Amino acid sequence: MSPRRVSHPTRIGIIGLGMYVPPKVLTNHDLEKMVDTTDEWIQTRTGIRERHVADPGMTTSDLATKAAQQALKQAKLDPKDLDLLIVATATPDMLFPSTSCLVQQRLGATSAVCFDLSAACSGSMFAMITAQQYLLSGRYRNALVVGAEVLSGFIDWTDRSTCVLFGDGAGACVMAPVTRGGILATDMGSDGSAADLLCMPGGGSKHPPSHRSVDQRLHFLRMSGGEIFKLAVRRMADSATQVMKKAKLKPEHIGCFIPHQANIRIIEALAKWAKLPLEKMYMNLQRYGNTSAASNLIALYEAVQEGVITRGDHVVMVAFGAGLTWGSILLQW
Ligand SMILES: CC(C)(COP(=O)(O)OP(=O)(O)OC[C@H]1O[C@@H](n2cnc3c(N)ncnc32)[C@H](O)[C@@H]1OP(=O)(O)O)[C@@H](O)C(=O)NCCC(=O)NCCS
Repeated sequence: MSPRRVSHPTRIGIIGLGMYVPPKVLTNHDLEKMVDTTDEWIQTRTGIRERHVADPGMTTSDLATKAAQQALKQAKLDPKDLDLLIVATATPDMLFPSTSCLVQQRLGATSAVCFDLSAACSGSMFAMITAQQYLLSGRYRNALVVGAEVLSGFIDWTDRSTCVLFGDGAGACVMAPVTRGGILATDMGSDGSAADLLCMPGGGSKHPPSHRSVDQRLHFLRMSGGEIFKLAVRRMADSATQVMKKAKLKPEHIGCFIPHQANIRIIEALAKWAKLPLEKMYMNLQRYGNTSAASNLIALYEAVQEGVITRGDHVVMVAFGAGLTWGSILLQW
């Protein structure tokens, strides 16, 4: 038996949270000088006012490490005692080694098993649910999940339909067995038939980096915005409904919803479609844009900091992303 093995816990919760965004802020007015757009268009079509972007040389592991350090501190967990470290990201430092191994080294989490998880904007949901399974099995005592992105390096800054939407950042949580509260229900789903609606075609085995791949701008994010919009609403509505059903709770029992922070109109449509109270939908996308795998954890962090979520509250986190992927977590804080 592994020395790390512990008896099977019944409930896994979050015992520490952290976030980090790079200091540089790019406002809608800044974007007006870069592409044919207006602050008014961006705000009315997306709700976004500004986003943080990494300076050249600043990597996903830089952001992830800072968020992780804060979460470990809040959890009062010595990095040396960390068992499992998962980094969810669509923008790793390199194709390999995994960004999680780079973060491990920076943290000094020498005992942790580390891997990255690729589920785009659903990454933190997928990583948290994966960590929960390892912890429930008793294989590991604790886990650190980080959602981190430097999307600004993969955005076509001449494409006004995508460059206004995204931002850089990292969110982190430490998970461990808890005696009260914790995760009550989860849901995940995938649909590879719509993979081409949101993708970055270049850089992998299909289009390895070459002069041709660069000339064809294959190393930038591509999106069919309208179709993604509709699918995001439908999938998140179904997924959030599923977790409430599994936990035998109704929307009125939920204190706060933490939806993926992509677009205010997606969140409004989600609330309408799934009959969820809009006033309980937490939103901070105005300040960060869509930070992909970091989005739900940054929003959870701020909702807790602001006192929007308090002890005992039921919280539904729900995400949607490229793949397609979607997932939800219902937990009691
Ligand atoms: C991208 C998105 C904001 C576009 O909003 P929309 O209301 O669907 O707008 P449309 O794509 O219909 O474009 C309407 C017009 O605005 C234009 N437009 C697009 N981006 C613009 C911008 N930044 N500024 C000004 N005009 C813009 C389009 O070119 C189009 O002009 P046309 O009618 O002359 O062709 C919206 O589709 C969206 O948010 N999709 C989901 C994106 C997302 O969240 N993805 C990640 C999910 S994980």
